[in-house]
Amino acid sequence: MVHPMTQTSRAPSHSHLTSVQPRAARSVDYGLDAPGVVNGFAALGILTLFVGIALELLGATLNLRRLGGIASWTGITFAVTALLMIASSRFGKLRARDRLFHRLHIRGHETVLDVGCGRGLLLVAAAHRLTTGRAIGVDVWSQRDQAENSASATLANAETEGVRDRVEVRDADMRALPLPDASVHVVVSSLAIHNLRDAAERGRAIGEIVRVLRPGGIAALIDIAHVAEYARAFHARGCVIEQIGFVPTMFPPTRELMVRKVLVNRRGRRLQPT
Ligand SMILES: C[S@@+](CC[C@H](N)C(=O)[O-])C[C@H]1O[C@@H](n2cnc3c(N)ncnc32)[C@H](O)[C@@H]1O
Repeated sequence: MVHPMTQTSRAPSHSHLTSVQPRAARSVDYGLDAPGVVNGFAALGILTLFVGIALELLGATLNLRRLGGIASWTGITFAVTALLMIASSRFGKLRARDRLFHRLHIRGHETVLDVGCGRGLLLVAAAHRLTTGRAIGVDVWSQRDQAENSASATLANAETEGVRDRVEVRDADMRALPLPDASVHVVVSSLAIHNLRDAAERGRAIGEIVRVLRPGGIAALIDIAHVAEYARAFHARGCVIEQIGFVPTMFPPTRELMVRKVLVNRRGRRLQPT
C-alpha cells in the first residue's frame, strides 16, 4: 500500500510535469558520471602520451628518451582510467543496477525513493518493477556530478522506458528529503552521497533516509567512498546491516550496502526483519 502522505506529496508544486518528445525520437541516456574528471583524464592522457612519444622519437639524449617512455606510460594510464570510467558509467553501472534490484525483491506496491537520482538509472529500474507503487527521485541536478543532468532529462528517460506514469522527480537536497516520516518502503542511491564533502553532512543524509523509511524498509546504496561510514551511521540509527561488499563491474572501485530499518513492536521491542 502506498503511504497516504506520499499520495498527497504528488502536488505539482514539487513535481516536474515537463512535456517530453515523442517516444520514437529519443533513446535512453543515463548520463556520464563526473564528466569533468573523465574529460580531464582523457585530455591529460592524450597530451602526456603525445609528449612522451615525441620525446622517445626525437629526444637528443638517452635521459630525454627515457623520460619520454615514462611520459608515454603515464599518458596511457590516464587514458585507460578515462576509458574505464566511461565503461563503468555506460555498462558496469547498469550491471550493478540489475544485481541490486535482483536482491531487493520489489513486489509492485512499494514507494521507492532514489536519492540523487540523476538521469534516473535506478529510478526507472524501480518503476519497471512497480504496479500500484510509485518511484520518486530527488536531486539537486549538479552538472559536475553527471553530464546534462536535469529533471526533464530524467522524465524523458522514464517516458522512453514507458514508466512515466509511475515516476515523480523533485528538486531536493538529500539532507532535507521532502517526504514524511516512515513513508517509503525502499530507498536506493547510486554514487550520490559521497558528493557531500563533510562527514557530518553525509550523516545528515543517512539520518534523512532512515527517517523516511518505514519500519522494516530497506535502503540499498552503491558508492565509491565512505560506504563503511554509511554502514556505521545506519547501525547507529538502529538499522541492521544485511549486506556490504564490492561491485565487480564498476570503476573506480565501488561498494554496495544494504540495510534494513528495524521493526519494533508496540512495547518498543525489536522484531526480526521479514
Ligand atoms: C554521479 S551522479 C549519479 C546519478 C544517478 N544516481 C546514477 O547513478 O546514474 C550523482 C548525483 O547526485 C546528485 N547530488 C549531489 N549532491 C546532492 C544533494 N546534496 N542532494 C541530492 N542530490 C545530490 C547529483 O546532482 C547527481 O545527480
